[in-house]
Amino acid sequence: MKVGIVGAGGMASYHYDGFTAAGAEVAAVADMDTKRAGAFAKTRPVGKIYESLAEMLKGIPDLDAVSVVTPNKFHKPVALEALNAGKHVFCEKPPALNAAEMAEMLAASKKAGKLLMFDFNNRARPESRAMMRYIKEGAVGNINSAQANWIRRAGIPGFGGWFTTRALSGGGPVIDLPHMMDLALHFMGYPEPAWCLAGVFYDFMDNKAFKGPWGIPDSAAGVTDVESSCHAMISFKTGQTLAVRCSWAEFVEREVVSVTFQGTKAGGKVERLFGIDGIDTTSFDSCRLFTEEYGVQVNRDITAEKDESMGRTGQASNFIDAITGKAPALNTPEEALILMKIVDAMYESAALKKPVEIR
Ligand SMILES: NC(=O)c1ccc[n+]([C@@H]2O[C@H](COP(=O)([O-])OP(=O)(O)OC[C@H]3O[C@@H](n4cnc5c(N)ncnc54)[C@H](O)[C@@H]3O)[C@@H](O)[C@H]2O)c1
Repeated sequence: MKVGIVGAGGMASYHYDGFTAAGAEVAAVADMDTKRAGAFAKTRPVGKIYESLAEMLKGIPDLDAVSVVTPNKFHKPVALEALNAGKHVFCEKPPALNAAEMAEMLAASKKAGKLLMFDFNNRARPESRAMMRYIKEGAVGNINSAQANWIRRAGIPGFGGWFTTRALSGGGPVIDLPHMMDLALHFMGYPEPAWCLAGVFYDFMDNKAFKGPWGIPDSAAGVTDVESSCHAMISFKTGQTLAVRCSWAEFVEREVVSVTFQGTKAGGKVERLFGIDGIDTTSFDSCRLFTEEYGVQVNRDITAEKDESMGRTGQASNFIDAITGKAPALNTPEEALILMKIVDAMYESAALKKPVEIR
């Protein structure tokens, strides 16, 4: 199994580590900035370096799969180029800039008969997998309602870079932090959405005191035109409901990364707490069930192995295992389309200041 990585930035190493752990070879890395590809090749053995996917496809025609680790605007064109060349595709989140783009990608994967998966890495976290087992075995009953939170107090990933430029990113935390919404939907069975009511805010986007401890360097010449926070309620055709909070910057006590849900037999919570805001190595992950047994209220702690990568390497490994048939794919492009329809609806509802129907 030969994989080529497109985009040698911050996330590429997780893709590399996950693919190789699953037994695949990373045959090449392409980056329009070949210096970055060269720097990456110094950290991990990579067969070849290219400036673009087109060159990579010419140089290694028997490539099996391509991973897309570029800024969001390039997810669709790079994924389409790879799918149309008959390659399986693993693409970073968000799947695309909007649902229309995602629908094109889904159609291309069907036409090519190739796998299209996304880096919804939080589904691959050990505690999410453990929780999913309880849900699938019926311990939770039907999930009525869920709350998805990824809220930061001071977590803007640089000013003027691609993250804060709508034309390149598609938006701020709504599109950058879809992980908890995706995980909640995964637990809920990815129901068909019906309505969305959302508010989007733009505070602090010019205030360096709200910059995160990571991200990409500031660019004085760049644009900062995306939102800093969003609060939304989604209802589903099943009657289920989901409350979503996501932010890069707002006055909250601390960063919260969690999904909670209320089922007919038990509730549950999967959470990551960062020890020092935003730093993976000092984090604490937990997984809990809230239920009733023999007339008393019971809380259960589920212990799962520690995974600092937050499932990132595990999700990349799952892509290889799904191609080779060793494991079912942890996510599908049909689910990604539902997610992007909700993202579109969040922006639309906020702009119109009223609820919007999701079709
Ligand atoms: N799953 C996660 O936890 C997670 C975390 C951070 C970022 N991401 C996502 O990963 C993606 C990349 O983010 P990053 O932090 O690695 O960004 P980055 O800016 O560090 O790296 C992106 C790289 O892509 C290259 N590039 C841009 N367009 C290209 C093209 N058309 N062809 C080849 N190379 C191109 C750039 O030169 C750059 O080196 C984004 O979609 C982001 O949303 C995911």
